[in-house]
Amino acid sequence: MTTPPGSTVRHLVRDDAGQVADTAADLILDVLETDSAVGLATGSSPLGAYQEIVRRVRLGATASPVARRGFLLDEYLGLPAGDPNTYASVIRREVADALGLDVRGPDGQAADPEQEAERYGREVVAASVAVQVLGIGRNGHLGFNEPGSSLDSQTRVVRLTESTRRDNARFFDSPADVPTHAITQGLATLMQARRLVLIVLGERKAEAVHAALHGPVDPACPASVLQRHPDAYVVTDREAAAAVR
Ligand code: GLP
Repeated sequence: MTTPPGSTVRHLVRDDAGQVADTAADLILDVLETDSAVGLATGSSPLGAYQEIVRRVRLGATASPVARRGFLLDEYLGLPAGDPNTYASVIRREVADALGLDVRGPDGQAADPEQEAERYGREVVAASVAVQVLGIGRNGHLGFNEPGSSLDSQTRVVRLTESTRRDNARFFDSPADVPTHAITQGLATLMQARRLVLIVLGERKAEAVHAALHGPVDPACPASVLQRHPDAYVVTDREAAAAVR
């Protein structure tokens, strides 16, 4: 385990995706109690950890329920409710249903998205999230806080960058179907979770991992805000740690 100078964020490097999932599951379950709120991210990186948590619960190896409510990190705007690509659907399918979590998130069809973002931000803060699970974009984004997002940003409506839309197009029938906007927890919102666990796999994220851990704390790399959190972990495989220098 290494801790960059001047920061308390801890970087745990594991040999493969299975070990990353195992370590991340430990860090998440460690701080959950049966009435906790847990912050859940979409994306492929946290899936192994979610599966590992579900496996342990099914084996009776951990308390069941592990938490009561799951809070989405972000949600697309404009997809029909129940669309399999809404993040609420993804999180229910991948983890929340199996754990019996009540999923809360922004309403992606709200008539007034700005007001909905504010409402959701207040709900998340009031819930006092015990642990927020995170993935990272190749450009260093957290949730949908794209580069340039203020480190003090609140939960809000954001326009997705074209690179993020391209990265996420694989889940949609056509690239044009990827929504252009989303509601994301702000960086200041997610920083209020008592623990942060960022899970990263693969070489294509290596530069983002280096910038997040060792670059300046700067909106150019939104994930660098982790360096200011008192209980933040970054769990990566060797490939994702390859550019750390
Ligand atoms: C989306 C999500 C992010 C996630 C990112 C990376 O953009 N909004 O929260 O971190 O995807 O996804 P993956 O882990 O599949 O690379």
